[in-house]
Amino acid sequence: MGRIIEPIKERRSIRNYKNKEVSKEKIRKVLEAANWAPSNGNSQPWEFVVAKDEYAKKISKVFYDWAKDYIPNADYIPEEKKKAMLEYSKDFGGAPVQIVVTYQTGEDEIETEESLMAASAAIQNLSLAALEEDLGTVWIAGHIAHADRTKEIIDLAEDKKIAGIIPIGYPDIDPAAPPRKDPNLVEKVKWLGF
Ligand SMILES: Cc1cc2nc3c(=O)[nH]c(=O)nc-3n(C[C@H](O)[C@H](O)[C@H](O)COP(=O)(O)O)c2cc1C
Repeated sequence: MGRIIEPIKERRSIRNYKNKEVSKEKIRKVLEAANWAPSNGNSQPWEFVVAKDEYAKKISKVFYDWAKDYIPNADYIPEEKKKAMLEYSKDFGGAPVQIVVTYQTGEDEIETEESLMAASAAIQNLSLAALEEDLGTVWIAGHIAHADRTKEIIDLAEDKKIAGIIPIGYPDIDPAAPPRKDPNLVEKVKWLGF
């Protein structure tokens, strides 16, 4: 493994953080890496909202208000995992900062889809760069990314959407890697003309 593939495999979604501040300088570094992602027509359709303290609390509350009803009723979540998940959903496992990654939407459906692709590439860059700064992240999407309340908290323009909310901080956990389906790529890859 090389200098790129190793960190790609080592990155884990972190759902438990140390009670330790993250410097603005470190966050700036990971955002700079995010900003170097490829994009449709080099449009760079992403923006970043960095939230801490009362802003992070408000965003977490949107998540918890949804999760406290959703998790207990979700049949696919094993009962024994529900308590820990609810605890995590209160403040994303104690993450001191959240980075909201937004993208530009427009009239053209394909262009909007490509903007989301580009913002997603930025999020992956961000998550990998965080490793170099000894920081952990997790990509949160789903309900909270679409909720009007989240958009109000960050004062998001009408023509923008949220690609992900990325809690970031010093990991307080070293989770095992969730296995990848078909790791030897027997089923997932169709080789044509080989
Ligand atoms: C688009 C997207 C949405 C995700 N949404 C959530 C989420 O809402 N909550 C969460 O805890 N993890 C979320 N994740 C993280 C995945 O659960 C995680 O990447 C996956 O389980 C693999 O684990 P790993 O990141 O440690 O390799 C999301 C990941 C992606 C790419």
